[in-house]
Amino acid sequence: MLTSLDLRNFRNFQNNNFILENNKNLIIWKNWEWKTNVLEAIGLFSNNNILEINFDNLVKKWEDFLYIKAKIEKWDEFAISFDRVQNKKKYFINNKSTTKKNLVNNFPKTVSFHPMIMNMMYLSPTLRRDFLDSILISSFSDYNKVIKNYKNILINRNKVLKNINEWKSQKSEINFWNNRFIESATLVYLYREKILLYIEENIKYLNTYLNNKVENIWFIYKTKIDRNNVRNSIENYIGKNLDRDIILKKTYIWPHLDDFDIILDDVSLINFASRWEVKSIIIWLKFLESQFISNTTGNKPIFIVDDILSELDQVHMDILLKNFWDNQTIITSIKDINLNSNKIYL
Ligand SMILES: Nc1ncnc2c1ncn2[C@@H]1O[C@H](COP(=O)(O)OP(=O)(O)OP(=O)(O)O)[C@@H](O)[C@H]1O
Ligand SMILES: [Mg+2]
Repeated sequence: MLTSLDLRNFRNFQNNNFILENNKNLIIWKNWEWKTNVLEAIGLFSNNNILEINFDNLVKKWEDFLYIKAKIEKWDEFAISFDRVQNKKKYFINNKSTTKKNLVNNFPKTVSFHPMIMNMMYLSPTLRRDFLDSILISSFSDYNKVIKNYKNILINRNKVLKNINEWKSQKSEINFWNNRFIESATLVYLYREKILLYIEENIKYLNTYLNNKVENIWFIYKTKIDRNNVRNSIENYIGKNLDRDIILKKTYIWPHLDDFDIILDDVSLINFASRWEVKSIIIWLKFLESQFISNTTGNKPIFIVDDILSELDQVHMDILLKNFWDNQTIITSIKDINLNSNKIYL
């Protein structure tokens, strides 16, 4: 359990301490002040952000460094510092210098719920892919490296495609990147398959929240690969479509292009669902995320909810809090909500 958080020169905090002595914590404050910033600080320790963070923006305006510290139960202390002048980040566990990977691996995982997540099914597929990837990053300590490596190889392959298109490189130069692409894409799928199978199997239990009004609920993963024969289908594509890829100067297939949808009795959620249904499903997907992380890491993640009132009615709020009852929960809100919790003000 996260029990305390110290923020020094972080965003608009100068030197503040938050005590989270309860399993349920409610941060209440008016809009446009500091609530999301607190949650962001917690997210830094658990590295749930798959986008690279620009630490420069995290340092309080006019200051040169930031220092944040989080205490877990009574004994473990995790800290991150960043010196803007030297452009240097440092990570500590119990005052001993450590690597970022070690810090993140030892800190509790987080599952976060914020207004943007509510729009996951309406906005770009990137959000849906990031949803799957962030679950895998929290669950498997190697996955962050796997997905970064894949993205690097993709960028390099695309560069060579462009160079061949512009007669700056020989066609044979692509072979090296083809092989690496096949290897790394196959590995991404190996991990992705784990979360896909889990969601496919467990999505149906959502029905109880839809008052059993829906008979069939399917999670559909949209991909061009044959999931039963990943490596071969990638190899075949690469073989067949090289000329097209050269003309387009891009790799037009795979992990970075896949998407998913949820079908309720033949109706696609992305295209037709009501706002109410979508909210219920997103809550259920977040619950599956939490369960999957618990199963793979052996620990229940901390549940972080930003701005609870802006998206959720009372019914959805109740469903959400009931599902995450066992997790340590940190919620921000502009006013008090009915929750038997530790209330945090500044
Ligand atoms: N590096 C920084 N230095 C100083 N202030 C910053 C820095 N980064 C962000 N801020 C300030 O933090 C404030 C926003 O904080 P935050 O997003 O946590 O607010 P909030 O309470 O969550 O608001 P809302 O309820 O509207 O979501 C803004 O006023 C912003 O200017
Ligand atoms: Mg906010």
